[in-house]
Amino acid sequence: MQMFLFDQQGGTMVVSNPAELSGPIHQPAMVTQVLDLLSPQPGQTALDLTLGTGGHALAIGRKLGPDGLIVGIDADPGALQVADARLRGRVPCEFQLVHGWFGQARQIAGRLRVSAFDNVIADLGVGTHQLDDAERGLSFDSEQRLDMRYDPSAGPSAWEVLNRSSQEELADIFHRYGEERYSRRIASRICMERPINTPAELAQLVKRVAAGRTSRHRTWRIHPATRVMMALRIFVNNELEQLDELLTQLPNLLAPGGRVAIITYHSLEARRVKHTWRRQQREGIIDVLTPSPIMPTERQIRQNRRVRSAQLRAARKPGVTS
Ligand SMILES: C[S@@+](CC[C@H](N)C(=O)[O-])C[C@H]1O[C@@H](n2cnc3c(N)ncnc32)[C@H](O)[C@@H]1O
Repeated sequence: MQMFLFDQQGGTMVVSNPAELSGPIHQPAMVTQVLDLLSPQPGQTALDLTLGTGGHALAIGRKLGPDGLIVGIDADPGALQVADARLRGRVPCEFQLVHGWFGQARQIAGRLRVSAFDNVIADLGVGTHQLDDAERGLSFDSEQRLDMRYDPSAGPSAWEVLNRSSQEELADIFHRYGEERYSRRIASRICMERPINTPAELAQLVKRVAAGRTSRHRTWRIHPATRVMMALRIFVNNELEQLDELLTQLPNLLAPGGRVAIITYHSLEARRVKHTWRRQQREGIIDVLTPSPIMPTERQIRQNRRVRSAQLRAARKPGVTS
């Protein structure tokens, strides 16, 4: 088994001692349904575009046998290290883990000299391993400085965006990436009260704005800051641009007959996958395997509340698997 870790510029990263690393493990979403749709076979190649702590990779890798190969990509170097420790000795096939963004999947595959994959999985968004990591500032009650970057070395943090952007820019981020109805009011309050240092401070501020707009006795179905937090995270990690780039590249990443499964967690992601695949199906580039999205079972939701908004879609590249 081999492991190559590339940094953003394509250099190699040194991994200290992955076996010693531990961290919160993400419970993979809808594994049974993903395996049913992809149907990985011994000797095939697989690509996990959002490796996280390796839950899906482990399940798929076990099906590939000693002659198979699984490549895992993640922007989060900490997740890669946990995944490496988990996969080592537990998957029979070769595995290669890469630090990078899935929008660069074609380049990464080229560097690894893999021309196409039989199985591709993308489980979008944020993982439990990141939500539970207080230092990332991804959960509402975190008292740590707002960061939210999957790759802590890439681009501005949420703190910089929140405290340095103009009121108009902030309102635009909350509206475009969170579909937040009070985007302007929230942006204006942020600009009055800056600096906002922690998720807890931001969540309180948004709650005050929302409370001022609704009845005093209102109870919220979701935390009133959910959309603002989501918008910031999507913006900081370029999530929608990355997804668009990936959807363009996917037909070229798949081998003839190869299959891809994508799990989305909110409507902005789901719409992109649905519309792009519909168009690509009309163009004869892919066949959609899921006319409507597959939802998690009640049991899966009971076991892991975070999958309640998950939607699984799959597609296949026309042709015969070799
Ligand atoms: C929901 S988690 C995946 C969990 C994984 N399926 C498992 O079973 O552990 C999503 C992962 O995708 C990564 N990620 C999100 N957007 C990314 C992107 N554009 N490129 C690379 N990794 C990304 C995050 O860092 C996170 O680790």
